[in-house]
Amino acid sequence: MTNPGLRQLRVELGARAYPILIGGGLLQTATWPELIRGRHVLILSDENVAPHYLPLVLDRLQGKTVVTRILPPGEPEKNLGRFAQAIDDLATLKASRDATVVALGGGVVGDLSGFVAACWMRGIAFIQLPTTLLAMVDSSVGGKTAVDLPQGKNLVGAFHQPAAVIADTQTLSTLPDRELRAGLAEVVKYGALGDETFFAWLEAHADALLARDPAVLAEAIERSCQHKAAIVARDETEQGDRALLNLGHTFGHALETADAYGRLLHGESVAIGMVLAARLSAELDMAPASDTERLATLLARLNLPVDLPAGANPGQLLDLMRLDKKNLSGRLRLILWRGLGQACIVPDVDEDRVHACLANAAMERASG
Ligand SMILES: NC(=O)c1ccc[n+]([C@@H]2O[C@H](COP(=O)([O-])OP(=O)(O)OC[C@H]3O[C@@H](n4cnc5c(N)ncnc54)[C@H](O)[C@@H]3O)[C@@H](O)[C@H]2O)c1
Repeated sequence: MTNPGLRQLRVELGARAYPILIGGGLLQTATWPELIRGRHVLILSDENVAPHYLPLVLDRLQGKTVVTRILPPGEPEKNLGRFAQAIDDLATLKASRDATVVALGGGVVGDLSGFVAACWMRGIAFIQLPTTLLAMVDSSVGGKTAVDLPQGKNLVGAFHQPAAVIADTQTLSTLPDRELRAGLAEVVKYGALGDETFFAWLEAHADALLARDPAVLAEAIERSCQHKAAIVARDETEQGDRALLNLGHTFGHALETADAYGRLLHGESVAIGMVLAARLSAELDMAPASDTERLATLLARLNLPVDLPAGANPGQLLDLMRLDKKNLSGRLRLILWRGLGQACIVPDVDEDRVHACLANAAMERASG
């Protein structure tokens, strides 16, 4: 079937290369079911997504032996218990090596599904059907899969690339505004870390993005995926450049963990984290403070938080940052920037400076 608005990209990874399709109605029109080689399919989804979109997906899988697991929504479900249940589902299905896991949902379902697929019989195929903006622009692309532990996010996982990413932009019509905005934080990240032109385009289109203009959203998704695909193709397993995608994430993950995966959404903590990374860069004389302002202004226009949450404890956050996977030999390794569009990896950041930066931000929050 033709789809006039269809945008197609490819993640170039040799034998593991795969397509990213972006467009309205793709759950129904794209030929993704043809990628499923075997008979067995496990679909993971959640309670907010399944009522809207699972029937469309099941309709495309007639003739297959399908098991569906619908999780309660939210980050706390991305855990080892849910992983074990999904593995049990595959065992009950007597799934063979040509079985496929289908992730229908946001990043929580996607990360969990990918990890299940990575582990069953040492790796089976999986297809990403992302339904949040965040999943479309970030988590569904690149093959990072994981579950959380109480000690920290994404601590147990594997690199396992999907067979395809099918981003049906019509699914965004049911996405709550707050979740859409959280996805926009990751979109801004691509401009902030490496593409000032894209950042300026986002400044010019902030209102259209918030108003969910379909053409503007599709363009933002495509440009974000181009960035992600290019970085992943250069550095699949994060030996170098790929770490730049974590701009704001070390601060952000610490905030999320301190918050016990509760109040702050992932994208919201990334927004605060990016501003903290920019602040620290300015405090270390690496970047102009005016760029911190420009970043914070755009994020605030997108109705994203830019300040530390009330009561945030700098010492606790620093402790949590020490557990980040980017750290090497116990030294804090952060993604900072030399200014807009110029993120860089800084090994061995002085912990006292990070603590001071967090303490300043907490003090400003308390006084302002
Ligand atoms: N693997 C990666 O490279 C990568 C990158 C970024 C983030 N992540 C992970 O992604 C997760 C966050 O993803 P997320 O923001 O998509 O969260 P999510 O999966 O929790 O989805 C957000 C909320 O939106 C609901 N929802 C999803 N699609 C919907 C739709 N179309 N209509 C109505 N409701 C819908 C969900 O039920 C949930 O309540 C985190 O666990 C984060 O660590 C992974």
